[in-house]
Amino acid sequence: MKLKLAVLPGDGIGPEIMEQGLAVAKAISEKFGHELSYEYAICGADAIDKVGDPFPEETFQLCMDSDAVLFASVGDPKFDNNPNAKVRPEQGLLAMRKKLGLFANIRPVTTFDCLVHKSPLKDELVRGADFICIRELTGGMYFGEKFESDDKAYDTNYYTRPEIERILKVGFEYAMKRNKHLTVVDKANVLASSRLWRKIAQEMAPQYPEVTTDYMYVDNAAMRMIQEPRFFDVMVTENTFGDILTDEGSCITGSMGLLPSASTGEHTPVFEPIHGSWPQAKGLNIANPLAQILSVAMLFEYFDLKAEGALIREAVNASLDQNVRTPEIQVEGGAKYGTKEVGAWIVDYIKNK
Ligand code: IPM
Ligand code: MN
Repeated sequence: MKLKLAVLPGDGIGPEIMEQGLAVAKAISEKFGHELSYEYAICGADAIDKVGDPFPEETFQLCMDSDAVLFASVGDPKFDNNPNAKVRPEQGLLAMRKKLGLFANIRPVTTFDCLVHKSPLKDELVRGADFICIRELTGGMYFGEKFESDDKAYDTNYYTRPEIERILKVGFEYAMKRNKHLTVVDKANVLASSRLWRKIAQEMAPQYPEVTTDYMYVDNAAMRMIQEPRFFDVMVTENTFGDILTDEGSCITGSMGLLPSASTGEHTPVFEPIHGSWPQAKGLNIANPLAQILSVAMLFEYFDLKAEGALIREAVNASLDQNVRTPEIQVEGGAKYGTKEVGAWIVDYIKNK
């Protein structure tokens, strides 16, 4: 098929991991006879420096005109340490989510057997844990009415029925495709918005009789994820809870550098690693490119190109098995591979398959 990508490398380690993700996308396209084209666009701190806007109109237009967006990361410490900064790189990410209508953020939490020892949790708890967090991405406190003054501030956790219905539908549908277990995470004992979520979920559940649906308060879910991560199959939750729980989820697996994500909705879907821009590692050739590469796998799978996705996953697993790993997950005494070397190894694997 013909595939046009908007490539947004962003800040920090973004450009380095993007180079490897793109190389994998090219290798797979060549192997399977797809016509891949792509165009770069700026975002984040890079775009603030160049044009004063973290998600410029031109970048938005390119995203709208593409089949998919491959995104790396945004963020720069020069903004983090300045609470008075008028524009921040993260606003670019939020603008992209809102303008592309990316209401469903799919974050798989997958463990790799050869890396369970990297998890802060006991091996026997973590081994085999494999669930998906579906995070609502364009509503809630992130986008609700805000007020900020020196002695008063608030954010509004605003949700409408259609917003809740469409994300719950994604949750039920993912559960149908997987082990038919959906956990709706909320705080219905305290929050009105959560009560509406739960009410609508209870209304929808009978449409999916094969799915076992349970309801869990977010504090309890945070605990259960640590106590028994294998309990979960698909979890669906609002924007803020999803933000927090997916960072927790990434810890379970042992390395943030391994987790990809997909954001889908009304317009062009976006594929990106869940980790940030790690500015301290910029240019050092030490960042793990696997989350970006696995985001490319999710991209192909989104277009129902299953064999393409499977081959990328096979190559990633092979690299881990053969200890072709970046320093943070390398075994003791193992050779140190850089971002470029891991990417090149995976590209070679794909080409020679
Ligand atoms: C994420 C990030 C973003 C969020 C930040 C960078 C705005 O933490 O994608 O999880 O809070 O959504
Ligand atoms: Mn986050």
